Amino acid sequence: MPQLDSDFKPRLLKKLKHLKKWARRQSISCYQVYDNDLESVPCRIEWLEAKVVCWIYKWDLGTEVLESLRDQLATLLADVFECESCDVIIKYRQKQQGLSSQYSKLGHQQQTMMVRENGLKFELNCFDYLDTGLFLDHRTTRKICKEKAANKRVLNLFAYTGSFSVYARDGGAKSITTVDMNKHYLEWAKRNMAHNFDSRAADRFIEDNVLKFVKNEAKLNRYDLIICDPPTFSNSKKMKSAFSVDDHYQALIGDCLKLLSDGGELIFSTNSKKFKWQSEGLLVNVNAKEISAQTIPEDFKQSKPHRAWLIVK
Ligand SMILES: C[S@@+](CC[C@H](N)C(=O)[O-])C[C@H]1O[C@@H](n2cnc3c(N)ncnc32)[C@H](O)[C@@H]1O
Repeated sequence: MPQLDSDFKPRLLKKLKHLKKWARRQSISCYQVYDNDLESVPCRIEWLEAKVVCWIYKWDLGTEVLESLRDQLATLLADVFECESCDVIIKYRQKQQGLSSQYSKLGHQQQTMMVRENGLKFELNCFDYLDTGLFLDHRTTRKICKEKAANKRVLNLFAYTGSFSVYARDGGAKSITTVDMNKHYLEWAKRNMAHNFDSRAADRFIEDNVLKFVKNEAKLNRYDLIICDPPTFSNSKKMKSAFSVDDHYQALIGDCLKLLSDGGELIFSTNSKKFKWQSEGLLVNVNAKEISAQTIPEDFKQSKPHRAWLIVK
């Protein structure tokens, strides 16, 4: 059976030592520790207050070898992070044929947990979905959103679990409209808001296809701050055709601009690795600048998972 690369553990320990100090200084309790640093160990690892979540990327080695590597990984991570092995959760970014359940072997149970970020509470679920409920690479973008939100009408598109909306409310937004086409995520977004604030009529949660919503909404409302962080690719029965950010971002940004008040701001972000920003003809009478250098936090400096732009009308 293959063994994990002997460079892996020393590398993790070194990074963890640095990040622990950084996180303590910043009062951060959830952060990324490893992202495909070594080609021989293709995974991503996050520390979430008291749990370690590890996503294995593409070890296409057959079930038996993969299960052995997974067990080695689970033992090593419990050791490095000084936690119980039941607090190490291993997931597969790609489905592996014939592999036994990733949780039953490690003895996990489905459960949610609360974490804090910048004084706000977020519900995470490390078990039931591929992602946990909070994209840590947008920690700083969320803070920027909060800093801009005072007295603004805020629109959060592709909202997922509503973390941008929670930050906007914390920043004193006048109203917040949260849009996602997935009912379960929208319910989760409502819970995240309720974990932090009393509900109010000014905040709306809308289950809809963003691509349709932005067109209809142009006839009805204007916003002062829009967050638009679409997935790289999206397809569903609720959509007429598939959405690809690489192909369709210009039309989407164009529709968002129609919803912006004069002087309003749009934060647009993407995780697409192939993304090419071309703004000729798109950005008439608006100011756009890439802000990725400001939005990528310390723990993601190496992997740079997203790019972001601030567009001011
Ligand atoms: C990339 S994430 C957005 C992440 C979010 N902005 C954050 O930082 O937490 C994907 C989300 O987009 C939603 N989504 C995908 N396609 C959509 C569409 N056409 N209309 C509305 N929501 C969509 C999914 O349901 C999912 O919640």
